[in-house]
Amino acid sequence: MLHGAPSALLFRCVQKILSLLIFFGLLATATGYAENYDPVAVYLTWQRSPESTITIRWISQPDRQDDLIEYQREADGAWRTATGTHSAMPENIPYLIHSVELTNLFPNTNYLFRTGPDAKSYKFKTMPAILESPISFVAGGDMYHDGIDILHKTNRQAAKTAPLFALVGGDIAYAADRKASIFPQWAQTWINKFVEQKAERWLEWLIAWKEDMVTPDGRLIPLLPVIGNHDVTGYFGQTPAQAPFFYSLFAMPGPQGYNVLDFGNYMSIVLLDSGHTHPVMGQQAQWLTHILAERKDIPHKFALYHVPAYPSVRSFQNKICAQIRQAWVPAFEQSHLTAAFENHDHAYKRTFPLLNGRSVPKGVVYVGDGAWGVAKPRKPKLSAKRGYLAYAAAKQHFIHVTVEPDKRSIKAISSNGELIDEYSW
Ligand SMILES: [Fe+2]
Repeated sequence: MLHGAPSALLFRCVQKILSLLIFFGLLATATGYAENYDPVAVYLTWQRSPESTITIRWISQPDRQDDLIEYQREADGAWRTATGTHSAMPENIPYLIHSVELTNLFPNTNYLFRTGPDAKSYKFKTMPAILESPISFVAGGDMYHDGIDILHKTNRQAAKTAPLFALVGGDIAYAADRKASIFPQWAQTWINKFVEQKAERWLEWLIAWKEDMVTPDGRLIPLLPVIGNHDVTGYFGQTPAQAPFFYSLFAMPGPQGYNVLDFGNYMSIVLLDSGHTHPVMGQQAQWLTHILAERKDIPHKFALYHVPAYPSVRSFQNKICAQIRQAWVPAFEQSHLTAAFENHDHAYKRTFPLLNGRSVPKGVVYVGDGAWGVAKPRKPKLSAKRGYLAYAAAKQHFIHVTVEPDKRSIKAISSNGELIDEYSW
């Protein structure tokens, strides 16, 4: 045994190096220079004003350093240019992450863009400035949990519904681990800075997003992500330094780790960190109370975060769940939040509209619980204590949301297109 352990470790190291070499070698071949250059990954988000801006991110080989975007209104014919910045991928992965924010765009308008005159064109659409007709988006988390096939399948089914954007609820690429530690928390947090994540899983997830998250009319679907435990080395109580990929890849929610995005005066979406790189209590909770109070009169308000306040599988007494109920739920209730999207439990659930834990018509609806790419969802634990659950089932799904001027509806849909649940309010 004593002799076997070092050789097993050596074998694992060689195996890891070989798999990375094969993966990156194949990637370079598949995406190398061609007449119609196509970056390794292309994805969109917003940092402000979705009716007049878009943030374009793309990943290139290291020798493709230009941060140039050419863009035009669809059918305009004349390209305009914008430039941005790039940074290296974390952990010395041999790719660059580019970022350009386009501003002063027309609302509710299709645009074309490309990452250079020799590059493939993509399409996006800005959001409406005023909510006059129904808009839709999709939500879900716990994505690349199993094989790439189920991720592709759910992505494609979600894209078919032609959403204007997607909320990504954490546990995105399952690239980070938590090791059992003999060290105190502060020491382990420091050590975790040097523990590498599975970089190839981030790239595989981004490539799948580029390939799949395209609407039937050819638009790329922007994403708004939050962090989950499997996106940070150490899972809980860490700092952004332990989540280098999440913070380098995504411009939103930004370095603060939590943020709010306002869609005109009709909708706001709050993105939160459920204790992975920022504590639930304290500063984040105070910020949340403040920004929700400011938006009390916004008719459609949604929150997205990873660990549920009202779990369908894990214990109701779970420490993080209890902290969220104590520190965030009062702010949700006082500001009349429309719904909170929760994840982490790998099942489907919808609560009654809740106020103080009781079902009341004007309460907050909690929908989740994170099973976008989960092949074997967990069975919800139904007991008297979970009277808050209106519906729960061991079902793989994504959530499709429609927002109209005076009402909203949700549908939970499986990767096969099966309707699991629907609700309007
Ligand atoms: Fe999780």
